[in-house]
Amino acid sequence: MSGHPPTPTALIIGASRGLGLALAAEYAKRGWQVTATQRAPSASGLPALAKQWPKLLKIETVDVTEPLQIAELKSRLIGRRFDLLFVNAGVANRRDETIGEVSTEEFFRVMHSNALGPMRVVEAFAELVPATGTIGIMSSGLASIANNDSGGMEVYRASKAALNTLMRSFSARHPGDPRSLLLIAPGWVRTDMGGPEATLGVDDSIPRVVDTILAQTGKAGLQFLDYLGQPVRW
Ligand SMILES: NC(=O)c1ccc[n+]([C@@H]2O[C@H](COP(=O)([O-])OP(=O)(O)OC[C@H]3O[C@@H](n4cnc5c(N)ncnc54)[C@H](OP(=O)(O)O)[C@@H]3O)[C@@H](O)[C@H]2O)c1
Repeated sequence: MSGHPPTPTALIIGASRGLGLALAAEYAKRGWQVTATQRAPSASGLPALAKQWPKLLKIETVDVTEPLQIAELKSRLIGRRFDLLFVNAGVANRRDETIGEVSTEEFFRVMHSNALGPMRVVEAFAELVPATGTIGIMSSGLASIANNDSGGMEVYRASKAALNTLMRSFSARHPGDPRSLLLIAPGWVRTDMGGPEATLGVDDSIPRVVDTILAQTGKAGLQFLDYLGQPVRW
């Protein structure tokens, strides 16, 4: 037999900036064919990355809170195969407020963006991921109910805990699924969301996130792991 193994492929949802953009860059750097999404056309971020990796990086558009856009993206990608589906999209609560203070509208926005939207993407695109592939979502250390001794960020915590439990339900609903299912806690990282006080730079987190995802290839079942590959308590 001759020839090279096929170039691995990734679909990364929510990659316009921050951790998602860095993930797309890291996979392209490692020779993967990457389809990365943004919500709206922009002049920087993904277009700049596509210039750097014209053969490897393709840009798509989707807002995870718009079911019609998810369906349209699916129709554009149907028939493709992705070794990795990774949903990075997420938002913070606009203020660090308690559940007693948050408006219903803001609570719904955070829950929709961080739990319902990402799971709708998983439901829609899982069939494009082969048995040897991986479905990952960007969770958070703050999703851990067991580790919540300090409080704070209540609404955001609730949304990521909801995401985790919905992914556990997805996993439970697919017994015997050979794919690697991952919820990733990237650490506290200096991005627009993480802020300047965060302990890690993007370059401290994302290459290790990718190492962690790749190390789990072929391991069936759902895991909640931090960026160093260590299990996080549920
Ligand atoms: N930074 C941290 O310390 C930290 C820690 C734990 C977990 N996380 C998680 O890591 C992920 C990335 O965070 P980040 O720090 O890179 O945040 P960020 O800089 O605020 O970037 C968030 C990304 O998500 C996208 N996004 C938000 N809502 C979306 C939607 N409805 N549809 C599609 N894309 C959407 C944004 O797109 P636009 O540019 O269009 O807004 C942007 O690309 C999030 O899920 C976050 O919760 C971050």
